[in-house]
Amino acid sequence: MNEGSAVRVERAKQVFVPTYRPRAVVLDRGEGSRVWDAEGRDYIDFAGGIAVNALGHANPLLQRALCEQASKLWHTSNVFLSEPPIRLAEALLARASFAQRVFLCNSGAEANEAAIKLARRRASLQGRPADQRVILSFRGSFHGRTLATVTATAQPKYQEGYEPLPGGFGYADLNDVGQLDELLTADVCAVLVEPIQGEGGVVPCKPGFLAELRKRCDALGAMLMLDEIQCGIGRTGRLFAHEWESIRPDVVTLAKALGGGFPIGAMLVGEQGAEVLGYGSHGTTFGGNPLAAAVALAALQEITSAPLLENVAKREQQLRAGLREMNAVLPLFSEVRGRGLMLGAQLVSERCGRAAELLDLAADEGLLLLQAGPDVLRFVPALNITEQEVDEGLRRLQRAAQRWQ
Ligand SMILES: Cc1ncc(COP(=O)(O)O)c(C=O)c1O
Repeated sequence: MNEGSAVRVERAKQVFVPTYRPRAVVLDRGEGSRVWDAEGRDYIDFAGGIAVNALGHANPLLQRALCEQASKLWHTSNVFLSEPPIRLAEALLARASFAQRVFLCNSGAEANEAAIKLARRRASLQGRPADQRVILSFRGSFHGRTLATVTATAQPKYQEGYEPLPGGFGYADLNDVGQLDELLTADVCAVLVEPIQGEGGVVPCKPGFLAELRKRCDALGAMLMLDEIQCGIGRTGRLFAHEWESIRPDVVTLAKALGGGFPIGAMLVGEQGAEVLGYGSHGTTFGGNPLAAAVALAALQEITSAPLLENVAKREQQLRAGLREMNAVLPLFSEVRGRGLMLGAQLVSERCGRAAELLDLAADEGLLLLQAGPDVLRFVPALNITEQEVDEGLRRLQRAAQRWQ
């Protein structure tokens, strides 16, 4: 780390609540999947701002949408209407055949919070007593950091110290159909599940698991709520990750890539819940802000284009092939899992617990990469990353791996 960055890292330590431990890289500007730090060093971006920058950095379409809207109207609150959020909601509904209504918010946690509240309120309107309004989620999941969403996040490390946690949450093991007889029972009002767990290590639901949940939810009158905050919006090569399974969810939550880097979240709601959150029952000042909505609409139009979704499939194959080649020389991974441009490389047992070391070396070689827990490297680059950028990123990863004893 050079002197300029070291000073900035120190300044950051003095001012921020110490919730994060960022890598000692101070980024300044970006273009596509390449970013430059404050000293002019370039990096290939395989991290995408944690699966957010779906169209890379400084995308001209998004810039235009943002600047045009910025010169017209920034914010109205939801007491008054403006055109961009209406158009965004219409565009989302046109592409989500199950959905009838949209709630716009600002982040993933807020989208899931809205979903949890919707499921509870629906159960209440149905006359279910409070102890029959359980939300069932899965071990290894990540649903956000608000108190309700961190309680749904079935990983103790995110919950410790925040007790008392809200009641009415239950947990099951992902992909274990056998457990559902015992855990998905009449007191459950909704199941909340990521089609591919992200933070939990890039762990996909096995084929048929979502369909099994759908069947059981139907039998109980419970809602099936999919958290597609990380795996949705084109990341798997289809707009929604659940489209690979041809099931109809009741709720889908979105954020991250939805705004291409501008903060926005959304909850899409099907028939079962479309009218549940009536007037005054929920809200947010900023949700569906015209600036955010204008950018998200431009992002959605681009992400749903055939060439972009084809690029996701091609770059997935390229990344997988590159990781296979690297592994043949330096055994690093026991498995590469996930779909599209949401891939997780599980470290071999001798290297487990050490992903952070490789990420430091990668940054040193000019590659921004993420982990998903201590044992998994996570690849969530922009969906429009080019063949050359992937090649260059893989070369830099290989150099980092060669230095990793
Ligand atoms: C699957 C999933 N759900 C929810 C969230 C929370 O989103 P946010 O950080 O925008 O609140 C995340 C963030 O990583 C996520 O990956």
